[in-house]
Amino acid sequence: MVRIAVAGTGYVGLVAGVCFAEVGHQVTCVDIDENKVNVMRSGVSPIFEAGLEELMQKNYSAGRLNYTTDYQSAYRDADAIFIGVGTPEQPDGSANLSYIATVARQIAESVEKDCLVVVKSTVPVGTNDKVEQFIRDFLVNDVRVEVASNPEFLAQGSAVHDTLHADRIIIGTESKWAQEMLMQIYEPFHLPIVSVNRRSAEMIKYASNDFLALKISYMNDIANLCELVGADIQDVSRGMSFDERIGSKFLNAGIGYGGSCFPKDTKALEYIAKQHGYELKTVKAAIDVNEEQKKILYKKASKRLITLHGLKVAVLGLTFKPGTDDLREAASLENVPLLLEQGADIYAYDPVGAENFARIYPEGKHGRGSITYVDHIEHALDGANVCFIFTEWGEVKAITPEMYKKLMRTPLVYDGRNIHSVAQMQEAGVEYHSIGRKH
Ligand code: UGA
Repeated sequence: MVRIAVAGTGYVGLVAGVCFAEVGHQVTCVDIDENKVNVMRSGVSPIFEAGLEELMQKNYSAGRLNYTTDYQSAYRDADAIFIGVGTPEQPDGSANLSYIATVARQIAESVEKDCLVVVKSTVPVGTNDKVEQFIRDFLVNDVRVEVASNPEFLAQGSAVHDTLHADRIIIGTESKWAQEMLMQIYEPFHLPIVSVNRRSAEMIKYASNDFLALKISYMNDIANLCELVGADIQDVSRGMSFDERIGSKFLNAGIGYGGSCFPKDTKALEYIAKQHGYELKTVKAAIDVNEEQKKILYKKASKRLITLHGLKVAVLGLTFKPGTDDLREAASLENVPLLLEQGADIYAYDPVGAENFARIYPEGKHGRGSITYVDHIEHALDGANVCFIFTEWGEVKAITPEMYKKLMRTPLVYDGRNIHSVAQMQEAGVEYHSIGRKH
């Protein structure tokens, strides 16, 4: 059993803390937000994540998991302190490291025994060297503090599963002591561990995320070409997927990637390269393709319709992917303002993301257009002139072609997730536009 403190209770920190407790470590999660800490103590998760609440309640009751705002008490006698705070993107694409710096300072002022500081947050290559120096500069007590890199590969919506059943654990260390401590922490997970130096570990995180972003942008690029030459991207990707060198995952063309990671990490790596006088052309291409892709359905619809003004527009799905209430970099955020600007009356449906979206676009008039949030898909489709699908929620996938035909005033559907069969939609008399397929 290792005594662990975790700084930050977002996706990365909270899920890591809960999973460390689940495998038997003694964990204290630290957050500055008193309300959030109280909510977590009452067994409620501040984020929507399958299976998380159950594990929070189980491990809290077992006394292995605690939450506090008192960072000093948590850091003082920890064997390892994991940092899982955010590194948001700045306007120039670089990562904002101020949250990491704050935590590093607090650690330096609190630790009273030797301890390993483990950075889970995604940080530019070389940052952990600086974090280590920073902590040592501010250390109050005469103790040994080392920093290790341990990037996180969980995806939202399956975070607990991804952590407990990760494909690999990456540990980046500069000493045997640090390496052994991390090995001990991860030993009960029984997962493959890749042990490298700190900078390589930092790079593995960016290189992995950017590769996946590239894969998606590549498929989107090919999808757009498929439309022009009369090929079908789903058949193309299926054909490609049998090649084990390509693999079958992340080949789905769509309305572009969103979320808190791919958009941020592609821009961050491009920025890092630029700082070193190098142009990372492949990653830049992935970013450019994605920006265009997010608007592709809007562009198609604008060509097809003389105006959107006064039209009832059903918007199905607001979050950047299903299984999360997260809206960051979601295609909806790109398209809804364009639709409103054109005077559309939007009826938006999302099983969990509507509340968050309404904070940005409150229900009611917005310039020439308006937005109304509905609890049932039928209410969005009823009498609609056009429908946009931005997120492939199960309930959206379950809509039958006949429902569009029956409920909509004009059955015109723009699908950013290729969830319906082109043939079945045509058969039902729905005008159906999707990505990289015949229409
Ligand atoms: C991503 C990675 O998948 C995780 O491995 C990584 O740990 C995480 O970022 C992170 O750095 O924290 P996440 O952003 O939660 O996870 O979501 P993904 O499931 O990867 O989806 C990202 C976006 O790509 C979504 O908008 C999704 O719709 C899109 N996508 C995904 C596609 O358009 N096509 C695909 O084939 C797959």
